[in-house]
Order: sequence, then C-alpha cells, then structure tokens
Amino acid sequence: MKTTTISSLQAMKTAGDKFAAITAYDYTFAKLIEAADIEVTLVGDSLGNVTQGRDSTIPVTIDEMAYHTEAVKRGNSRSLLMTDMPFMSYATETQALDNAAILMRAGAQMVKLEGGEWLADSIYMLTERGIPVCGHVGLTPQSVHKLGGYKVQGKEDEAAAQMIMEAKVLEEAGADLIVVECVPSSLGRDLSQALSIPVIGIGAGPDTDAQVLVLYDMIGISQRLPKFSRDFLEPASSIQEAITAYGAAVRNRQFPAPEHCFK
Ligand code: KIV
Repeated sequence: MKTTTISSLQAMKTAGDKFAAITAYDYTFAKLIEAADIEVTLVGDSLGNVTQGRDSTIPVTIDEMAYHTEAVKRGNSRSLLMTDMPFMSYATETQALDNAAILMRAGAQMVKLEGGEWLADSIYMLTERGIPVCGHVGLTPQSVHKLGGYKVQGKEDEAAAQMIMEAKVLEEAGADLIVVECVPSSLGRDLSQALSIPVIGIGAGPDTDAQVLVLYDMIGISQRLPKFSRDFLEPASSIQEAITAYGAAVRNRQFPAPEHCFK
C-alpha cells in the first residue's frame, strides 16, 4: 500500500471507493494495522475505556494521548495517523492550539475534535496553521452526560438537518474529514452526500465514505460488543488476518451489514 494522505482519501471519495479506519493504542497493534493496509489509524480517546477500564472518555488527558500517539507512530509509517483531542483540551482556541501542537509533535498527522458549529473558529485557526482536523458529530462520547447516555443521535428530521448543517460548517471552516457516530443509516448517507470531504462512519450505516471501529471490539476482546461492530476474529485464525478481513469487508461493502445499522 502507498502512504495514505488527505488527498488520497479525498481521491477515494471522488472515485466512490470505500476506505477503512481502526483505533490503535500501542506499537504492536499499529504494526498489524500497517501490515493490513488500513488507510487511517486513530489513536482514540476510547483508550480510556478499553485500556484504562474507565466508564467514559472524560478522564483521559492530553499527556496520555501524546504517550499512546508516540507508541503508535513507531509502528505506523503508512496509514494516516489521527489522534483524538481529549475532553477539555480544546474548550478555548488557545487550548486547542497548544494541545494540538503537543499531539502533532508526538506524531499525529491530524487531530479529531468532537462537536458542531461552536468549533468552527478553532478549526479555522488550526488548519490555517497547518494542523489538519477531523470533526466528530453524532454521538460524541465526551458529551455523554449532556446527551443523557450513549444513544443514537439525529433520529428526528430536525436533529438530522441540524447535524448536516453543522457538519457543513466544519467543512467550510477547514476540516478535511468528519467522523459520524451512531446515527440512522439514512442520515449517514445524507451526510456523506452533503459533504465534499470524506465521512467516516461508526454505527452510521453502509453508505458513509469509510468505516471506523474500535480495535478491541473488532477482535472480540471488549467487555461488550456494540451492535454496530463485528468480531472479525471469529472466522479468522490470527489477529493479523482479522484486521485484514475487516479492511477487505469495508472496501467490498460487506461491512456493515443490516444487523450493524440503526434506523
Ligand atoms: O475514541 C474513539 O475510538 C473514537 C471512535 C469511536 C471514532 O472516537
């Protein structure tokens, strides 16, 4: 596989080709993901749940994100390396700039921020200064207490239209990718059609431009397998084979299947 860049992902969207993303938190898994030719590696703040055993991503710190980014970077030289900005690390523009710089120095090639329209000025400021940004809309786990739990978002027409409008604002501000989490499949499709930049879905149906999964879910070692995920180790004989099968299933449009989607 060639090295993934923002322009190669954009070209895949234009050509109608799907791509795969997956989370990683350490060097060894990053190596397996690289060998499986997965296009995007995300150092997700889900590390708070799956590596630290916390019940939300809220306690995760910028130093922890930088530590895991450095480890993943050592094992990954081909896929685009994106890192989550953790809770309260981008509440103001100054915080966003200072903390994004820490992650970029640790090896990230892009940072991901959860939220809508309120992030526009920060995204503009980061991208103008050479820091690529991925937005994250839909279910935004850092806002779990405001949302009242881990629930499917954008079910009502008004909420769906609002989400599309806010995602367009993020694109106009300079975001190069958008993650959309836990929304009805129809909204995942409409969002991907409404934006020019690639949309990566998780629990957002089969029609987004790409899919992302939490690594520990897709190899079946999480405490609970979410509805939108699949244990790819089930028919595989190794973790390497499972990650490769996941990439192929996304590119061949075999994942997600109807049972992984929300209405
Ligand atoms: O932290 C994470 O793993 C994420 C994915 C769920 C997209 O943000």
